[in-house]
Amino acid sequence: MVLELDGDGPRYAQITRAIMSSIEDGLLAPGTRVPGTRELARALGCSRNIVLLAYEQLALEGYLVGRSKKGTFVSPDLPRPGQARRPAHAAAPRLASSLSRRGRRLATFAAEARLITLGVRGMRIDFMYGNCEPDEQLAVRLRAGFAKALRLHAFGYIDPAGDAGLRAQVAERLRGARGIVRSPEQIVITSGAQQALDLCSRLLVGEGDRVIVEEPGYAAARASFEAAGGVIVPVRVDRDGLDVAALPQDNRSIRLVYVTPSHQFPTGAVMSAARRHALLAWAARRGACVLEDDYDGELRYAGRPIKALAAQDGADHVIYCGTFSKSMFPSLRLGYLAFPEWLARDGVSAKWLTDRGSSALMQFPVRELMASGEYDRHIRRMHRRYASRRSALVQALRTYLGSEVVIAGDGAGLHLVAWTPRLDAAQVDAVVAAAQRRGIGVYSITPHAVHALPVQGLMLGYGLVDVDRIHEGIDGLAAAFREVTGTTRLRPSRTRENSRARA
Ligand SMILES: Cc1ncc(COP(=O)(O)O)c(C=O)c1O
Repeated sequence: MVLELDGDGPRYAQITRAIMSSIEDGLLAPGTRVPGTRELARALGCSRNIVLLAYEQLALEGYLVGRSKKGTFVSPDLPRPGQARRPAHAAAPRLASSLSRRGRRLATFAAEARLITLGVRGMRIDFMYGNCEPDEQLAVRLRAGFAKALRLHAFGYIDPAGDAGLRAQVAERLRGARGIVRSPEQIVITSGAQQALDLCSRLLVGEGDRVIVEEPGYAAARASFEAAGGVIVPVRVDRDGLDVAALPQDNRSIRLVYVTPSHQFPTGAVMSAARRHALLAWAARRGACVLEDDYDGELRYAGRPIKALAAQDGADHVIYCGTFSKSMFPSLRLGYLAFPEWLARDGVSAKWLTDRGSSALMQFPVRELMASGEYDRHIRRMHRRYASRRSALVQALRTYLGSEVVIAGDGAGLHLVAWTPRLDAAQVDAVVAAAQRRGIGVYSITPHAVHALPVQGLMLGYGLVDVDRIHEGIDGLAAAFREVTGTTRLRPSRTRENSRARA
């Protein structure tokens, strides 16, 4: 099947349209088998999730039908070309056509990004990045804090900016740990970093505004900017983070630059000091805002804590965004924005309109944790937990996969990257699939990029995998490698340094 994509909008929508046209033009007759999702993804150079989403949409609209084990087929009930051009049940207005232009953008970009961030269900050992769980000690404290909030009758609407005590704690912590001097009035508590990114998109990005994102980068941030009407300008990332020299030099305006300088998502690179200065100078010159996403800055294992961009922001251009999702756990849905002064009041208004403020009942126990010093103790315990998982993972990768992988980005957070310089994109997909068949969830880095990457790799999260399961999981991953590459033995790497130099 030859598909010509029109290059307009999200890739899954392009694939959907291309298959629809092929069916309507008679190139794909009713009853024809269409390629498997993996095969088509390989042919189009995109992730399998994107093809899955297109197939789902086509099935929903009656163009495709799945027959278990046999594959996916063009619906045999469709009229032949020349007869009515659309299936009878697709004659009613499609859902998408009843959405506003903005709504359609919102729905399509969000659906595409959401797929990328989903793990695979039912894995025995899941290296999905981003997930984590607290220990019992934190759970006990939270229960007590929650009960106290109920006793205190914290039932009314609160300041949409968030609990004043929590904002004061966050401001103090940002000053002490990240060098960011912003007052509690500049802090807005959000429903996770995701809402923070979305609020910034809605406040700052309009139709046609250009937004710089890291390549590869965080798909959910990209989707927020695109949903707001922004035009994405991907700028490559290397071992020192965003390549500032590759920023556009033309004089078209740039509205926003989105960066994850402390632990680049997904590569894990740390932006060098020289680049930080250069980025801030570039943004000030161009009148662009910088949105700094410090999603896992509290968990740093190697080197000294890295100064936040917002701490060096002389021009009041940097919006800082943090989250409790990695330092505690994602279902808490609490994050925060530290706005420059000029934006703080509008930020609070936007938050009010969105949801009138995040749950006071959840903010209260977190404030108590921070004020009592328990939050710091929790971070220290989690630091020990994740540091030992991270070294077990690095060790296991060296032992079982040796020079097949180049480890990078393991200095912070809850995931690292195993670059696979000897595998092409199709082989990485095959390794991912072979590992998943063994019940081991590993994920390709490719879907996080807008364009094809020069080197392929796997993202390995350790937020939910205990030390004793890590070796078993990577042993299984090595078996998947052998299955795909046809090798019987993989060469061990000689030194840790060898295996860490970024491809
Ligand atoms: C780079 C990045 N930013 C933001 C988030 C979202 O965090 P939250 O759960 O606070 O919305 C994630 C989650 O994995 C992330 O990887």
